[in-house]
Order: sequence, then structure tokens, then C-alpha cells
Amino acid sequence: MDTLELLRLATRAPSADNSQPWAFTQHGNALTCRYAHPGNFRDPFGASGHASLLAAGTLHENLDLITDGQVESRLDSRHEDIPWQLNIRPAGVSIPSPELCRKIESRHTNRHPFDKRAPGQLPDCQASPGVRIVTCTESARIHALGDALQLCSRARFNQPELHEWLFTSLRWNDEEIAAGDGLDINTLHLPPGGQHFMRWIKPWHRMEMLNRLGIDRIMSIADTVMVRQAPVVIALCGSNEAQDIWNAGRTLQRLWLALNDAGLAVHPYYAVTDLGNRRRAGRLLPGWEASVLRGEEICAEALGLAQGEQVHMLLRAGFARHAAVRAKRRPPQRFLSPGSGR
Ligand SMILES: Cc1cc2nc3c(=O)[nH]c(=O)nc-3n(C[C@H](O)[C@H](O)[C@H](O)COP(=O)(O)O)c2cc1C
Repeated sequence: MDTLELLRLATRAPSADNSQPWAFTQHGNALTCRYAHPGNFRDPFGASGHASLLAAGTLHENLDLITDGQVESRLDSRHEDIPWQLNIRPAGVSIPSPELCRKIESRHTNRHPFDKRAPGQLPDCQASPGVRIVTCTESARIHALGDALQLCSRARFNQPELHEWLFTSLRWNDEEIAAGDGLDINTLHLPPGGQHFMRWIKPWHRMEMLNRLGIDRIMSIADTVMVRQAPVVIALCGSNEAQDIWNAGRTLQRLWLALNDAGLAVHPYYAVTDLGNRRRAGRLLPGWEASVLRGEEICAEALGLAQGEQVHMLLRAGFARHAAVRAKRRPPQRFLSPGSGR
């Protein structure tokens, strides 16, 4: 299979804020993928951070599907700079079926409201080892997850580091969007005037000032209202071990492909996981630990988490009412490190 075509298809995998933190190097027939700092982004996760491992897992799953299992993976989180690596030999890979290509290319995020009607039987999805899929359809549990997310979302609007990450990720105009990375502003579900408001709050001092007037609370309600209205919320749970997080990324991609393929829209929510990880690492601004911990407790109770288990991702799923604008990717050659021989 042509290397660039393989890269184009594999990198349709999802990553936090569409950061695509992957770089490929080619030596003869061998192609190696590692974590790469996402260029002009302010990456708050780093090579072995939770979101980077999830994105390594989603990419691994795509590569595994495309190469029919011919991927060699290595993960050792003690190596801070190169904690993981994926090795493939594109020349030995047959061209994937049009059906598989369509499935991988069709997977996407939809941040618009979904139909309230329940989707019925969900497609089967095998979880990777160390990962548990919990499907919630009861409104009490879904509301509890909405409460948990709202607490963590509010805390997120009060973290300058996460504010900066969001605003280095956002892409505002055609030229920026055409570069193919980051969060295309048109993929968000914003009310009329929302884009202007978002531009206005870009400098942290403005957001900080509005937070004192309670905008963080209003934004956290707006951010999570669609979760409470969702017919289904699916949680991926497991331990905080690097291998289990990686496996959660693989499961996330497998599940997302299956849901989209079954005609269901998907919207991921990462705030409970991310803010919880930050709380445990002592990386929250003072005063926010208690509400994030409360959010984690509500989430743990709603999902029946065991000791040592955490949520890796929450997914709102349902029938789409509106088609989503599709997020682009960098051109495949931009994933190849300079000096890679083709
Ligand atoms: C680790 C991770 C965290 C994410 N967190 C969120 C989130 O909290 N909210 C959201 O709307 N999308 C979230 N996403 C979705 C990404 O923004 C999305 O996958 C990316 O922009 C590419 O778009 P696509 O899924 O349409 O291809 C997350 C994805 C990943 C892999």
C-alpha cells in the first residue's frame, strides 16, 4: 500500500482538539510512528499524558484495521520522550476494502443536539483488555453524569492552561482551517453571536473577569445540557495504567466506528477525566479540587466504578438532527518527519 495513502487513512483517527500528535519516520520499507508535539498547539498533556495515550490508541486501532493486524506496538511510559512506538511495513499491506475505507472516513464528532428517541439495540463492540464499556440509558444516571460533567466543565473554564490550550487549538478562518489541524470553529455548536463571544474571551484576563460575574457557570451549563438530554451515554472505564489508557483509546475508536456505522452520532466529553487527572497531579488552580473531586465521585457512583477505576471518556450517542461539519486533517506528507526516505 502506498505510504501516503496509508497515512491519510490512519490519521482520520480522533485526537483531543484534533491535535494529531503523531509523527512518522520511514526507513526503507519500515514506517515508525511516535508521539510528536503538535506544532503550534500548547500541548498540556505531553508524550505520555492521558490524552496522548488515548490518541495513540485510536491511531493504533486504525492502523490495525488497515494493515489487517500487521502493526507492532511498544509502550514503556518510563521513557518520557519516546514512551510508545508503532511499526508497520506498508509495502506488505494490501489495499484495504472500499467498505473499510468508507467506515474509517465516515467516523466523526457531532456536537449538535440529537434526537430524544432511544437508539434501541446498540452495535456490538468488544472492549480491549483492561477496559469496561458502561452503557447508560436510565435518565437518573444520565442526569448524574451531566452533573459530574458540569462541575468539571466549570472548573475547566477557570484553568488558564486549559483556556490557552483551547485558544491555540481553535481555527477561525478558511486559511487556518485549510491547514488541516486544530478545532475548526464551524464544528462547534455555538449560539448566534457565539463566535464573536469566543473571540472576545480569548485573552485570559477577560475570561477571568467574566468568571467573577458567573459566566463559567453559564458556560458549563451550556456545555453539558445536551448530555442530560441524551438518550444514551456510554462510558469507557479502566485503570490509570498506561497500557489500559492505550487500550481505552483502541476501544474508543472501535466503538465510535461501530456507532457511526450503525447510523448513530457521537459526541465525546473528556472534562471529568482531564480535570480528575489534573486534580490527582496537583495541577488545578487552588480552590477547584473539591468540586472536581465531587464531579468524579458523582461519576463513579453513576457508573458503579470499582476501586482504582476511572472514566477514560464519556460519549453522548443518538440520532443526529443536523449533519456535522467534518474536521480536516493535515496533509499526509506533513506527518512524515523530514529526512524520511520514501
Ligand atoms: C482524548 C480526546 C478528548 C476529546 N475531548 C473532547 C471533548 O471534551 N469535547 C468534544 O467536543 N470533543 C472532544 N474530542 C473530539 C475531538 O475534538 C475530535 O475527535 C477531533 O476534533 C477530530 O474530529 P473528528 O472526530 O470529527 O474527526 C476528544 C477526542 C479525543 C481523542
